[in-house]
Amino acid sequence: MSNEETVTIKDNTTGKEVTMPLLTPTAGPKVIDIGKLYKELGYFTYDPGFMSTASCSSAITYLDGAEGVLQYRGYPIEQLAEHSSYLEVCYLLLNDHLPTRSELDEFENTITMHTMLHEAMIRFFSGFRRDAHPMAIMVGVVGALSAFYHDHMDIHNEEHRMITAYRLVAKMPTIAALSYRFANGKPFVYPRNQLNYTENFLYMMFSMPTDDYTPDPLLAKALDLIMILHADHEQNASTSTVRLAGSSDANPFAAVASGIAALWGPAHGGANEAVIRMLININESGKPLQHFVDRAKDKNDSFRLMGFGHRVYKNYDPRAKLIREVCHQLLNDMESSGEQQKLLDTAMALEKVALEDDYFVERNLYPNVDFYSGIIFLAMGIPMNMFTVIFAMARTIGWISQWNEMMADKEAKIGRPRQLYTGEIDRDYIPIDKR
Ligand code: SDX
Repeated sequence: MSNEETVTIKDNTTGKEVTMPLLTPTAGPKVIDIGKLYKELGYFTYDPGFMSTASCSSAITYLDGAEGVLQYRGYPIEQLAEHSSYLEVCYLLLNDHLPTRSELDEFENTITMHTMLHEAMIRFFSGFRRDAHPMAIMVGVVGALSAFYHDHMDIHNEEHRMITAYRLVAKMPTIAALSYRFANGKPFVYPRNQLNYTENFLYMMFSMPTDDYTPDPLLAKALDLIMILHADHEQNASTSTVRLAGSSDANPFAAVASGIAALWGPAHGGANEAVIRMLININESGKPLQHFVDRAKDKNDSFRLMGFGHRVYKNYDPRAKLIREVCHQLLNDMESSGEQQKLLDTAMALEKVALEDDYFVERNLYPNVDFYSGIIFLAMGIPMNMFTVIFAMARTIGWISQWNEMMADKEAKIGRPRQLYTGEIDRDYIPIDKR
């Protein structure tokens, strides 16, 4: 980034001016470096939700919300969706270049060799209530990995950071599947080295000791594509959480666990589960779609159309476009249940109604990645409370790649935002018998 350009801010009260560098990125809006603002002008900036704030510099993922552009290390998501695989995308996000055949073979083998959990971890699951939400289990288990990989880890050593990334990418499907198995009272299934990444996940999720099980290659391919689309997404809430937690030099497994917690919220990664619950509720209500669109517009009603809107995309989420196609193809190729087809029909009809409604058009509220992913997961036989777990599984590479980039950045500091204080000040303590 070059910084020969500048911006001057003038305090109209005092007439004082501060000139600050205007940083030029390789793509996207220019950035005002306000680092010296408080020192020179005595003011903070105020931007709750970081609507206009760049929290870091990064070379990993580029979004253009107006144009609906998403690129991983400069490669358009559409091309990666068509030609790549999730593990190849993991290599790309971590290493900033596409692997040669031998590099990819070595990477895939390394991941395969790290899919097992320490046997003591397996017993960790039994401490949860049997009806625990798999996301609650995943937050706890991933955080607990920090107990197994801590004493001998030097997070300032690049090799240690890379092995941490390999371990997380490799173990997340095992943890995700175990979370499902435990929550459903099923015996744990160990990974199989001869299966590929997504086949292995389906095997650990759905195989039973009583029968042979061969993962459906159609489902494994569709899941691989969905994971590519969910792999990274710039400085979203969960990634920013991982960066902030990691900025204190915290254990990376604990930092990723904080990202899983942030992702769980229905305003973020939990939206895929919330979309299906909304579609089921719409179908069961017998009310017209407009009733729900009107509720979503009513400021006195907390109801929102889940799966619509995005902080950055003010155009169609490019991932939603790709997932929409997979959704139709999968339901056509499979004998989808009438229930699943009804959900898809309602989703398509709701999309049409919303996109013709001025409220949504004026606010650029388009379907996002979560609007269709849940329907695909249902078609795969994945239960609703596992949808965000799969999102977390896919996003792990994004979290750990962004963490690694931050840890390698010599200019990185511990994140410590300031505030606009609005509370009481300088009050004297009153003894309790005088209150
Ligand atoms: C993800 O950041 C990322 O990149 C996230 C993600 C990733 O890959 O990491 O892309 C994944 O989290 C996708 C988003 C999934 N969430 C949902 O689908 C939940 C429903 N969407 C909304 O909650 C909302 O759109 C957000 C949270 C996604 C974005 O909220 P913003 O940017 O803070 O926007 P806002 O709440 O300020 O809304 C702007 C206006 C408001 O109306 P006005 O005040 O202008 O009158 O749009 C309205 C909102 O009321 N609005 C909606 C709406 N989303 C926004 N109205 C009805 N239904 C909705 N879904």
